[in-house]
Amino acid sequence: MTSPNPSYKEEIGVHNLVVNMAAGIKNGFNHNAPHFEELGEAMRSAIDHEISLVPYKKAACIEAMKIVQKERGWISDESLKAIADYLEMSTSELDSVATFYNLIFRKPVGEHIILLCDSITCWVMGYQPIYQSLQNKLGIEFGQTTADNQFTLLPNACLGCCDHGPALIIDNDLYRDVKTNEIDNILAKYTSS
Ligand code: FES
Repeated sequence: MTSPNPSYKEEIGVHNLVVNMAAGIKNGFNHNAPHFEELGEAMRSAIDHEISLVPYKKAACIEAMKIVQKERGWISDESLKAIADYLEMSTSELDSVATFYNLIFRKPVGEHIILLCDSITCWVMGYQPIYQSLQNKLGIEFGQTTADNQFTLLPNACLGCCDHGPALIIDNDLYRDVKTNEIDNILAKYTSS
C-alpha cells in the first residue's frame, strides 16, 4: 500500500507554504537550467492558456499541476521541477503548494480516487460507519492505495451537499445520503469496468 500525500493534513503545510514563498522571494528563482521538455508540447500549451488567464505565472501553479497530473496520474519530482521552472518559481515553493492542496498527488495513486467528506455535517450524519465500511471492504485507511492499485482513499473537506450527508466522490461521481449497505454496489461500478 502506498500513501499519495502523507502530509495532506499536516498543519505544518500552511507554515511551509508561507516560509518557502518568503524564501523564494528572498533568494530569487530558477538558478538551474529549465527542463521544459519534461512537460511535452500539449501540456505546455495547456499551461500557457492557464497563464494567460492570471496576472502572473505562478498564479497558474495549481492548474498547471492539475494538467500534468491528468496526463501522468501524479506529480513526480521531475514533473514538479519542470512545472516550477516553467512558472518561474522555486521547486520548494511549488512543492509546498502541492503538499497543502490534497488533490495534488506526489506519489502514484490508484485508478480510482475516493474522496470521503469528513467535515462536521457529514460526521454528524454518519460519516464514521461509511469510513469503517470502506476500510473493511478495501483493506486500506485514508492516504492509502489498495494492493491491486484500483482505489486510493482520501478524506476531503465539505463536498457542497451537506444536507445529503454522508457524501463521497469517486472520480467525478458524487454520491449523497450514502448508506453502508450501498458501499458494495458503489464500488462494484468501478471494479467491473
Ligand atoms: S459536510 Fe459533507 S458535504 Fe458538506
